[in-house]
Amino acid sequence: MIGRLNHVAIAVPDLTAAAAQYREMLGANVGDPQDEPDHGVTVVFIDLPNTKIELLYPLGEASPIQGFLDKNPSGGIHHICYEVADIHAARDHLVQGGARVLGGGEPKIGAHGKPVLFLHPKDFNGALIELEEV
Ligand code: CO
Repeated sequence: MIGRLNHVAIAVPDLTAAAAQYREMLGANVGDPQDEPDHGVTVVFIDLPNTKIELLYPLGEASPIQGFLDKNPSGGIHHICYEVADIHAARDHLVQGGARVLGGGEPKIGAHGKPVLFLHPKDFNGALIELEEV
């Protein structure tokens, strides 16, 4: 059911420093910061030949990233995103199998303008999984 790895998201305590590190030390193709107010994050996209990295930084008071950074002050891998062809079919299959979908179960439009869902990390070996319909 899942297809390609779309991206790995890393929560960072200093977005400017992290972007500069990926650009200068790691020699990656790093984009400009983009505010995503609907998701409470500022994102920097990094294009790699086979996938993407998203650097996440809190935006606003109720950012879902803030609690993660409070627990992981030096940052950390926040989620991984797999591509699916049909997000509603994927959701129904997962719910039928006993997995929990976060936030009521309806897909939202994600940072790439495509429908996304998040799956409860306790159901997937401690890893927060995002599904993106492509
Ligand atoms: Co993501």
